[in-house]
Amino acid sequence: MTETVQPELQHENPLMEGLKLRRAPDPCALVIFGASGDLTKRKLFPALYSLALRKLLPSRFGVVGAARTEETDDDFRERMKAGVQEFGRDPFNQETWDWLAERMRYVALDFADETGQLEIVKVLNELDDKQGTSGNRLYYLAVPPSAIATIVKEVGEHRSTDGWTRLIVEKPFGRDLESAKALNAELLENFNESEIFRIDHYLGKETVQNLLALRFANGIFEPIWNRQFVDHVQITVAESIGIEGRAAFYEQAGAIRDVFQNHMLQLVALTAMEPPIDFTADSVRNEKVKVLRAMHTPGPKHVVRGQYGRGYVEGEEVPAYREEPGVDPNSLTETYVSAKLYVDNWRWADTPFYVRAGKRLARRETTIAIEFKRAPHPPFEDVGEGDLQPNVLVCHIQPDEGVSLEFAAKVPGQGLTLRTVHMDFLYGGAFRTGIPEAYERLILDCLLGDATLFTRADEVEEQWSLVDTIVAFWKRDRPAFPNYEAGTWGPSGADDLMRRDGRAWRRH
Ligand code: BG6
Repeated sequence: MTETVQPELQHENPLMEGLKLRRAPDPCALVIFGASGDLTKRKLFPALYSLALRKLLPSRFGVVGAARTEETDDDFRERMKAGVQEFGRDPFNQETWDWLAERMRYVALDFADETGQLEIVKVLNELDDKQGTSGNRLYYLAVPPSAIATIVKEVGEHRSTDGWTRLIVEKPFGRDLESAKALNAELLENFNESEIFRIDHYLGKETVQNLLALRFANGIFEPIWNRQFVDHVQITVAESIGIEGRAAFYEQAGAIRDVFQNHMLQLVALTAMEPPIDFTADSVRNEKVKVLRAMHTPGPKHVVRGQYGRGYVEGEEVPAYREEPGVDPNSLTETYVSAKLYVDNWRWADTPFYVRAGKRLARRETTIAIEFKRAPHPPFEDVGEGDLQPNVLVCHIQPDEGVSLEFAAKVPGQGLTLRTVHMDFLYGGAFRTGIPEAYERLILDCLLGDATLFTRADEVEEQWSLVDTIVAFWKRDRPAFPNYEAGTWGPSGADDLMRRDGRAWRRH
């Protein structure tokens, strides 16, 4: 059964007029396992609230928080309300909150204990009666990989026979290829691939999706999007924050498992993929997985790892990684990784993709820069070859969301002096609307059953197989950590990686 969406918020802004609203999701109950964790408070509830504010949730809706912590329904509501007020992107509206709060329940349980599942089933049945959620269930697994198998089995055994059941599985999806395969097998024993939504929140970012719009909705970019015209690609996922109290997780993960294995490789796949024949989940994911498969495993010389020492970030003194609470003072966990990758196919052969991701870098910035080959010959008298800078198309994923093109222009005056100028498209200016958070889009897509922006089993496995090779050669030697100062752009080895090829990282 579908319901109509009230379009008022979309049409308040004249620049948004004409944008089509999608169909409304079915009535449904959302169960969040791991409801006492940070993600639920910082991201999931603020996203649900923003969706409720825009009337994008079904009116027949319920949310059940489930975690080990003992808490009453009211305590849970209060905690989530504080999260919405602190982390939400919209001003707080009491009426919207009351609407959501009325539909919220909490169940304290031990994941391994069947009685907890029975309690959830009881609450879900009550929601079906009271809120009309019609037996449709979306389970959000915001729990460590070790807890997933038990939950999946229990949920599979108690699944509702009346409506649909879907699972959202948070990252990290395993810690290597073997564990990811085991996790996929456990999931697929109880659910079909079409019911499993492996989340990579980067895919929910508007600007990441805009990369697809830029490439495939415009005629001018695709003909030059290849080895003939592109010199190289640079992808940066830089963060100024440290590990934010997540030492237990980060010590095990490091930058390679936390960001490189998922967000970074997805950005490479979206940049390099062939045009899909349509925008259905399988067409898009088929093209991405081809890129991941074509990726040549980099040798040890083409991967650089780093760990930050003390330094200054945005004017404030910050401790070294090894001094963060909960971190081993001799830790060899990397907080930075950069690599030179190749996609061995007809379109990209011999075109390097330089990627880097790190914590405590000079500033927060995620960009994809496509650097084109230089003009072959300057026909101007006073201009030497070295004065001509290459054209660069930069997708600014965050912050300053937009796209810019760098090209040479004549400086006004006598003679012919050239300078690089920027032609900018800025989201804020063009659409005059706030940008939805990735989790809003992804939760909504899952409620609609659209898996296009979620990672398929084969993609996750390809990603791990690349990471496993890198981790294996890292085991052979002990890095001299720390090797970059907090607040800088990473270890000098990363600069050497580019310098050896006669190139340099973009400065900002
Ligand atoms: C998460 C990582 O997946 O992505 C974090 O676990 C990281 O360590 C975060 O900070 C970055 O996301 P965003 O949306 O802030 O770029």
